[in-house]
Amino acid sequence: MKILVTGGAGFIGSHTIIELIEAGHEPIAYDNLCNSSPVVFERIKAITGVDVPFIEGDIRDAGKLHEVFSQNDIDCVIHFAGLKAVGESVEKPIEYYDNNIGGTVKLLEAMRDAGCKNIIFSSSATVYGAPASLPLTEDMPKGELTNPYGRTKSMIEDILADVQYAIPNMNVVLLRYFNPIGAHPSGTMGEDPSGIPNNLMPYITQVAVGKLAELGVFGDDYDTPDGTGVRDYIHVMDLASGHVAALKAIKPEGGLYIYNLGTGNGTSVLELVHAFEEATGVKVPYAIKPRRAGDIDACYADCGKAQRELGWKAQYDIAHMCADSWRWQQANPNGYRS
Ligand code: NAD
Ligand code: UD1
Repeated sequence: MKILVTGGAGFIGSHTIIELIEAGHEPIAYDNLCNSSPVVFERIKAITGVDVPFIEGDIRDAGKLHEVFSQNDIDCVIHFAGLKAVGESVEKPIEYYDNNIGGTVKLLEAMRDAGCKNIIFSSSATVYGAPASLPLTEDMPKGELTNPYGRTKSMIEDILADVQYAIPNMNVVLLRYFNPIGAHPSGTMGEDPSGIPNNLMPYITQVAVGKLAELGVFGDDYDTPDGTGVRDYIHVMDLASGHVAALKAIKPEGGLYIYNLGTGNGTSVLELVHAFEEATGVKVPYAIKPRRAGDIDACYADCGKAQRELGWKAQYDIAHMCADSWRWQQANPNGYRS
């Protein structure tokens, strides 16, 4: 299939491009590079031998999108493009609603006008809010959200469901990611946050490489076995292969499908720190700090639906995720700017 990958220069998009190529698809990347580097396409070429077409453009640019759809016979869009920093979204809600919601609406207009009927969307486990029970299944109600970023994910899910209802032969696949970490096993591609990382694994690797002094563990009084927050970490290569599997959901009659992409295993902050130390032999100094606003005790997926319907299951364990995150960070201490 010819697949337009919005946000294709980003962390998850770039790894998904690798898996799409391996599976015989033809990805075209579309990205405005607001949180990524075009160097990633050199790395993709070195790994796959394929020069992926890259269009530098914004999903809010209707003219450019129409041009892309008219010049390429796109079978499916995988829509990663978006802003994703929770704290920043609280400071800049207008930018987040404009970029994530406004951009998605422009993308859907261009798809409708071009007759492109298939979209896979990067949603998040954040749409469940504070879980009433665990593990999370796709039929559980969405929850109360505490920040504009999370609300954009939940609203886009609703917008896509409305559009699919109006165009019944359209396929909308909502993928709810749990916590992606890890990196391509080559060590040449990985997560490249700008500034001080917000998320746990990039913070750990930056402490390990000596860029940051110590990890702050946000709270040790959660209702979890060791008191620190529990999450379902998933290797980015597993997440990437989940997108290839999600293409199987596409049916001639159309439909709306929702899948959790996680491992089903919960890992606490301290467990992840210790697993990292064991996998890499590098110490990660840490200090217990107050809770971070908006954080929940625990969150992990039931991934049975994706296994039953798409034949997809995550393969990599925490040790693998730690080793791959570290290989990338060590070889590229300044990310793609190295
Ligand atoms: P990322 O920031 O690395 O990738 C997003 C890409 O989108 C970047 O390359 C950025 O330049 C691009 N982009 C942003 N706004 C754009 C616009 N208006 N037009 C064109 N390109 C634009 O983030 P990621 O971690 O790869 O996440 C990809 C998607 O998955 C995002 O939608 C994110 O919200 C979602 N998601 C991520 C996580 C996570 O933990 N990383 C978890 C759940 C969901
Ligand atoms: C966060 C976002 C979520 C988003 C996801 C991926 C919040 C509240 N949630 O999820 O909406 O989809 O990232 O971008 O921001 N931790 C520390 N020290 C750190 C960083 C994190 O102890 O320096 C802890 C957190 O308290 C949490 C766990 O590590 O218990 C994971 O945090 P993080 O990687 O930020 O992911 P989430 O909070 O699950």
